[in-house]
Amino acid sequence: IADGGYAAWLSYPSLPSGRLQDQYVKWCGAVQATDEDDTVQAALREWQRGIESMLGIQAVKVREQAPTGLSVVFGTFQGGNPLIGSVFGEETVRIVGPEGFAIRTSQEQGCIAIGAVSPAGVLYGVFHLLRLIGNLEEIEGLDEVIIPVNGLRMINHWDNFDGSVERGYAGRSFFYDNNHFTNDVERIRDYARLMSSAGINAIAINNVNVHALETLFISKYLPEVASIADQFRVYGIKLFLSVNFAGPMHEGEVCTADPLDLGVRKWWQDTAAGVYAAIPDFGGFVVKADSENRPGPFTYGRDHADGANMLAEALEPFGGIVIWRCFVYNCKQDWRDRKTDRARAAYDHFKPLDGKFKDNVILQIKNGPMDFQVREPVSPLFGALERTNQVIEFQIAQEYTGQQRHVCYLVPQWKEVLEFNTYAQGAASPVKHIVDGSLWGNRHSGIAAVSNVGNDRNWTGHLLAQANLYGYGRLAWNPELTAEEIASEWISLTFGTDPDVSSVVSRILLDSLEIYESYTAPLGVGWMINPEHHYGPNVDGYEYSQWGTYHYADHQGIGVDRTVKTGTGYSAQYIGLNSERYDSLETCPDELLLFFHHVPYTHVLHSGKTVIQHIYDTHFEGAERAAELLASWSSLKGTVREDLYMQVEERLRGQASHAKEWRDQISTYFYRKSGIEDTGKRTIY
Ligand code: GCU
Repeated sequence: IADGGYAAWLSYPSLPSGRLQDQYVKWCGAVQATDEDDTVQAALREWQRGIESMLGIQAVKVREQAPTGLSVVFGTFQGGNPLIGSVFGEETVRIVGPEGFAIRTSQEQGCIAIGAVSPAGVLYGVFHLLRLIGNLEEIEGLDEVIIPVNGLRMINHWDNFDGSVERGYAGRSFFYDNNHFTNDVERIRDYARLMSSAGINAIAINNVNVHALETLFISKYLPEVASIADQFRVYGIKLFLSVNFAGPMHEGEVCTADPLDLGVRKWWQDTAAGVYAAIPDFGGFVVKADSENRPGPFTYGRDHADGANMLAEALEPFGGIVIWRCFVYNCKQDWRDRKTDRARAAYDHFKPLDGKFKDNVILQIKNGPMDFQVREPVSPLFGALERTNQVIEFQIAQEYTGQQRHVCYLVPQWKEVLEFNTYAQGAASPVKHIVDGSLWGNRHSGIAAVSNVGNDRNWTGHLLAQANLYGYGRLAWNPELTAEEIASEWISLTFGTDPDVSSVVSRILLDSLEIYESYTAPLGVGWMINPEHHYGPNVDGYEYSQWGTYHYADHQGIGVDRTVKTGTGYSAQYIGLNSERYDSLETCPDELLLFFHHVPYTHVLHSGKTVIQHIYDTHFEGAERAAELLASWSSLKGTVREDLYMQVEERLRGQASHAKEWRDQISTYFYRKSGIEDTGKRTIY
């Protein structure tokens, strides 16, 4: 179907005939789903849709074992289907947990059974089996219990009520338009299907920068918000709202937002009660406070624990949580001030508060210390907070990674962050075990990310950016999946199982981050972009600004000295070996060199090249490789569905030409600054 990419990874392409297709047809002709629950019924509809589309047969709903003797059976353990009861033993039921599922092929009973404690678990199990089939996996010997590794698997929308999306690159919001709710039931349902199939269980539907009207989402607009929550609930997704810390003042009842003021506390308690009356399973609040001109506790001489705990107290009786963001820094810095270092800010603000937050508060920490640059070190707050619930925040929206006009598959970046060893508790303390809660035994933990969707027909603008959305969900579910595995799943589910398509698209995705980095952000320097909209090259775009984002390039060298002896001391925020490794010019990895050190252009890297030659080489190679992406994709003309083919071709063409602009501006800038010739004698202007 030429749907322009709308069905995304739930398009269920038809499968090639052969042994596996015969196997699927044999088992999937009949289905039993006895629970009356909305979620299980949604799973049933999904199953029937998927089977019909992939196999061309109807999955007929039966009450008992099918006449053919084989069927797929799914439901909750307590749902009353005797087959589920007999296929799974007590031990399975005990270990499956609130969101997991068990799946088993029972030859004796003639069924493939999916059992779970919760209806959402059943739904995840059904999506799992559909994914196996869509990827041509065997289904005759299944016997697994699958449990999500991370508790919170969250999406943050930066959608505004007027319909704009902050840092949105795929059209406008599909929740709001012109200060109204769109009530686009179909689109929101399909969105919920996509999210749930990728494993997402929490969505905050409004921008962390909460403007005047959005401030009223927790009061005046609750009925409309509640109807979105109703749709998400069917797919196992809890709704969250971003709130304005100064909310009480907006409603005109209280003239302060001081978190220790009794009137303010009561306002939040009453407001929370109102929210839960409308949405009994409401997830909680997301808060950006004292950050980029948003109000917060600092105004009243209070700290962030005071602020977060006040909200936590209001939500506590209802089981709600506060997700408090750590993106707090001075955004009015004087560029002449060489002491203040934005990279230090999150740690400096929050490390002293470790242990002071109520246990229904979660700190949300961006993956790096700056702001979702192509390359940053991992935030040193991971490892530093031993007694605080925390989630990591990624950005699926490609604000600094090509804005969904360039292809940039981010799963490898996220994996690198999750694998990063913090040394917080001895030799093996990777970030993934901090955010899954196992390292410190946190009550709440998980992963959040800024969404990349909008009302573009294909959701993400660039079709290949769908892989980031899918990949984020899958990785949040199970961080052990590899970037290759996730890419390959996504490709089959989107384009079908043709191995040629798979190998070409997979190569494009897996190379894309390295390519993007090479022509935009050498050696850990970020921010060489146009101010405000953040698209396209501008080496000094942020150099003399108030945002704390500098590279300090002069005619001799470049980079930020963040060492202990001569720099800002940021490197000391890391633990043990990490701190030593970054602090020393000898051991600092090349890809982060200019993040930690200011060096001459003639400094020789571990790679054997000088810094300046590295800049020239990566930019020329990067632009060339960007052009090759287009060439590889072109090899799929006629193989990939035309409507999808054309979309990607158009974007890759744009990328190839824009990469040249990057190449020429960056190379020229550094050539003029340094006066050093390119040994490759390429044209520099
Ligand atoms: C970035 C982004 C802003 C956003 C902010 C945040 O700075 O450019 O648009 O509001 O992050 O995460 O709060």
